[in-house]
Amino acid sequence: MIARLAIAAAVLAGCAQPQLFGPPTEASCPPASTLTWDSFGKPFMDAYCVRCHASTLAPAQRHGAPTFHDFDTIYGTRAVREHIDLTTAAGPAAVNTSMPPGGDAPTLEERQLLGEWLACGAP
Ligand code: HEC
Repeated sequence: MIARLAIAAAVLAGCAQPQLFGPPTEASCPPASTLTWDSFGKPFMDAYCVRCHASTLAPAQRHGAPTFHDFDTIYGTRAVREHIDLTTAAGPAAVNTSMPPGGDAPTLEERQLLGEWLACGAP
């Protein structure tokens, strides 16, 4: 009985948290897209993400951000682009805003551009 109550409490507490992963945005890559790491990806990550998600940070400086989610390089970013879509990007099917968890946040337009850049393969 006590175990059941503990499980119920854990489930309720879980529901009160905002969800980390939203649905895929279904953003698409227009053939004329000009977004690149240099023109868009890097400035976006520098502005909103690398203070927690960078390979140069010591574990204690990451504010809990998981390892292997490092956005100070194109490779680290591209490798988890699906997760970035589910947490941060916007598109026709979803506007995902769980990242960043606080501080300066991207505008809706910036989230849509992120969705486009990711859909193009994060070139
Ligand atoms: C203040 C620190 C902080 C900032 C800034 C931040 N994050 Fe995070 N991020 C976290 C933490 C903490 C977690 C783990 C959350 C959890 O497990 O519930 C996380 C988790 C994630 C995950 C999921 C990782 C997994 O487990 O698959 C992704 C993707 C992500 N962040 C992307 C981003 C992006 C993109 C940005 C910039 C727009 C960003 N984050 C900005 C702290 C941060």
